[in-house]
Amino acid sequence: MSGAVAIDAITAVSMGLQRPLIFLGPPGAGKGTQAKQLARLYGVPHLSTGDMLRDAVANGSGLGRQAKPIMERGELVPDDLVMALVEERLAQPDAAHGFIFDGFPRTIPQAESLERILARRGFGKPLAVEIRVDQDTLLRRLAGRWNCTVGGETYNVYERPPKVPGICDVDGGKLVQRPDDRPEVVRERLNAYDRQTAPLVEYYKRRGALETVDGTVPVEEVQRTLHQIMERAGGRNGHL
Ligand code: AP5
Ligand code: MG
Repeated sequence: MSGAVAIDAITAVSMGLQRPLIFLGPPGAGKGTQAKQLARLYGVPHLSTGDMLRDAVANGSGLGRQAKPIMERGELVPDDLVMALVEERLAQPDAAHGFIFDGFPRTIPQAESLERILARRGFGKPLAVEIRVDQDTLLRRLAGRWNCTVGGETYNVYERPPKVPGICDVDGGKLVQRPDDRPEVVRERLNAYDRQTAPLVEYYKRRGALETVDGTVPVEEVQRTLHQIMERAGGRNGHL
């Protein structure tokens, strides 16, 4: 971690997050990349509804069978299915001290349901971070993305290649591409973002709970900005 980062990692981990963090942004913006590292820093789970849904599809559960064709088309899975998944996940013991959402909420009804759940569970109002990236960059990133089948580490053949092609640097796992990263599906995912998720930017702005970061700069630079936001929002130790 850079010397410019003022958050004391040990303090951050011991404190968790009283205010959940939400990463908003189009496909390929870097939500997963950033959410994973911040979750490690704060010692809280990284909750990606996309990852949860892909697990459900891989397990062949009832939910997975319903979600599979929808995800293959690049559309959003219905709110009631997603909310059931999130409620169940938040009831797990490891979510007791906070969590970071990646790709959730994605619609206004999901955001409203989340507020009710958080209030019930005694958490503060969430802070949303919008990661902004232009469309050409998004298309290039999604075309170049490879994920580890073991630990989920994310690479990019153009920007962040693994040391050995097809193999994860961290755990030696096999790297694969996501089926919904095909260009025709990516187009639909971008449309779904514009139509159904982008209105959340205004939703959180109106509540005074929105931060916006430039996601086109290198990963480490985005990280530094996020650490500054956490410090500003949460005081000396970056504790929200
Ligand atoms: P989901 O898995 O959430 O996908 P997404 O929102 O389309 O976002 P991505 O995971 O593609 O991108 P990302 O922002 O995480 O970028 P990443 O960090 O990987 O959702 C998939 C599907 O599930 C949806 O289409 C929908 O069907 C369903 N779904 C999920 N949640 C739902 C919900 N709440 N409601 C309804 N349906 C839901 O980075 C991308 C690439 O860029 C990587 O290769 C990375 O290495 C690289 N990169 C990242 N940052 C940088 C940087 N700063 N500089 C250079 N390269 C970078
Ligand atoms: Mg992701």
